[in-house]
Amino acid sequence: MAQYDVSDRSAIVTGAGSGIGRAVALLLARNGASVIVQDINADAAGAVVSEIEAAGGVAAAVAGDASSTEIIDETIRAAAALGPVKIAVNNAGIGGAVGTTAAYSDEDWQRVIDLNLTAVFRGVRAQSAQMLANGGGAIVNVASILGSVGSAGSPAYVASKHAVVGLTKTAALETATHGVRVNAVGPGYIDTPLLGQASPEAREALIAKHPMGRLGKAEEVAELIAFLVSDAASFVTGSYHLVDGGYTAP
Ligand code: NAI
Repeated sequence: MAQYDVSDRSAIVTGAGSGIGRAVALLLARNGASVIVQDINADAAGAVVSEIEAAGGVAAAVAGDASSTEIIDETIRAAAALGPVKIAVNNAGIGGAVGTTAAYSDEDWQRVIDLNLTAVFRGVRAQSAQMLANGGGAIVNVASILGSVGSAGSPAYVASKHAVVGLTKTAALETATHGVRVNAVGPGYIDTPLLGQASPEAREALIAKHPMGRLGKAEEVAELIAFLVSDAASFVTGSYHLVDGGYTAP
């Protein structure tokens, strides 16, 4: 496991009660960051804080909806209380309803866009303003391989993740000379509770799409994110980084 220089700063991770967000929170804390574990599930957030503290790290929970401006502001205040806010990982997301574009409802569309896109926009807006005022920082937005290729039956999810990639590039251009770096990651299918409802057949079909012949692990995505928010990635901004077992290579 690699080491990353993220000490003497605080980090916000949304959707950190489970899956990829939890793995990111644990890894950043292990490398010295003070971590705000943000999640709509208060119990899950509290459990991750306890895990970090048991390992000797520093963390606090903020429970609530990541798309709420009040929660976003509360998250920044909580992070600032632990140290300069120099890291934010906008990770909270949902898969949403499955259905073709021809049959997708406005409600299903909006539910996905509100969290997967609007929450990321509002998060980056507040986090980058804070970092610009502080003299720098690094933001990672969790997109997906479906930020660059389509997937029949998930129009809102695919649209939201493509949009996150565009938003990431735009925010990066706006902050490039001010010490704030903004990147996106594109995980392939990762074995987290998000995939929990998939039938064994659907799971096998997903595995078959990855040239490496398996799903990814949350910890493998966390390694890439920890690198991107660390000082080691000082010349990396405005880009979209895949961690997908070869999914998008063919
Ligand atoms: P997960 O379902 O394991 O964890 C998501 C967490 O977000 C949960 O703890 C949940 O309580 C929280 N959450 C849900 N709604 C929220 C809200 N409104 N506000 C705050 N927190 C909320 O999911 P996973 O797999 O770790 O996904 C994390 C991110 O990675 C998502 O953006 C997802 O789209 C993306 N991703 C996941 C992939 C996968 O195969 N698992 C593949 C590519 C991207």
